[in-house]
Amino acid sequence: MSTAGPQSAPPATLDDVRGWFFAVDRHLFVWFLEQQKKAETPGNLIEMGAYLGRSAIMLGDYVREGETFTVCDLFDSEAPDEANSGEMAASYRDTLTRKAFESNYLAFHDALPDLVQAPTSVMSDGRVEPKSARFVHIDASHLYEHVIGDIAFAKETLSPEGVVVLDDYRSEHTPGVSAAVWEAVATMDLLPIVVSANKFYGTWGDPTPLQDLLLEELAEHPELTAYEERIRGNRIIRLRNKAGLKAPSFRTSRFHDHIVAERTAKAERERRLKEAEAAALPARAKRLAKDLLPPVATRAIRNARRGGR
Ligand SMILES: C[S@@+](CC[C@H](N)C(=O)[O-])C[C@H]1O[C@@H](n2cnc3c(N)ncnc32)[C@H](O)[C@@H]1O
Repeated sequence: MSTAGPQSAPPATLDDVRGWFFAVDRHLFVWFLEQQKKAETPGNLIEMGAYLGRSAIMLGDYVREGETFTVCDLFDSEAPDEANSGEMAASYRDTLTRKAFESNYLAFHDALPDLVQAPTSVMSDGRVEPKSARFVHIDASHLYEHVIGDIAFAKETLSPEGVVVLDDYRSEHTPGVSAAVWEAVATMDLLPIVVSANKFYGTWGDPTPLQDLLLEELAEHPELTAYEERIRGNRIIRLRNKAGLKAPSFRTSRFHDHIVAERTAKAERERRLKEAEAAALPARAKRLAKDLLPPVATRAIRNARRGGR
């Protein structure tokens, strides 16, 4: 995790939205969502843990007519327990408000998703139809007790064609996510599709067609290398990306042209100011010499110059 921090201005591009949604996963999200679009896989989209909207903004582009996109986050409300509260204080409290999420989201979309400002545990209270979702991104609390509940919710909610994505399944600072993910693989029938450095992609349906297609398409992507392994007899694809992999392009925000025009005007003003300062330098140096040197020295310099002519 690296890019948290105050976001002082409206975003011109998705990269201006602070968050933890990196190039390789942006490629994988696009790939999975495009496959679903091509196959006309029906279903809703759900994100648990949105922060300032970096991944939610992209997901919002894939909601089709008749589908819903639900985003659940605590935003600026209280966490349900002390450990979760500590997590919030350490990582998000100084920067995260619901208002900031909404402004970022509306910079790219005409309407907000269905927002649930609450702990993710409320998602299992019957507000979402079982087997009605095709994509669930779990990126809220990274503590074991929360994540295992989020996975159980995803299992109930995803259709067989659906994909669940789990953030930080292998980081040193998130052992709870690792424990929950591999427990789900071992005891909850979760089948891995692919893993990146940051995220685990899995399904409760058949991963084989998606894996075959992904391997086929990766062969044409030299910046990404795929490795195959087996866990308890099930195939898992491991994806490595070359350093400096660029994220897929994403449309700009509604403020882009205005922000770029402002940035250009500011750069031009600064350039003109520097030019004027540089031009004023010799005159100012002359004035300074006149003010600082004693009259005898000034006269001597003047005489020497006259004599030298
Ligand atoms: C790592 S951030 C999400 C990053 C985001 N997906 C992105 O792309 O940048 C985790 C988010 O989970 C939220 N969160 C933490 N614990 C939560 C809980 N118990 N229920 C709901 N949201 C929670 C935090 O408020 C924070 O916004």
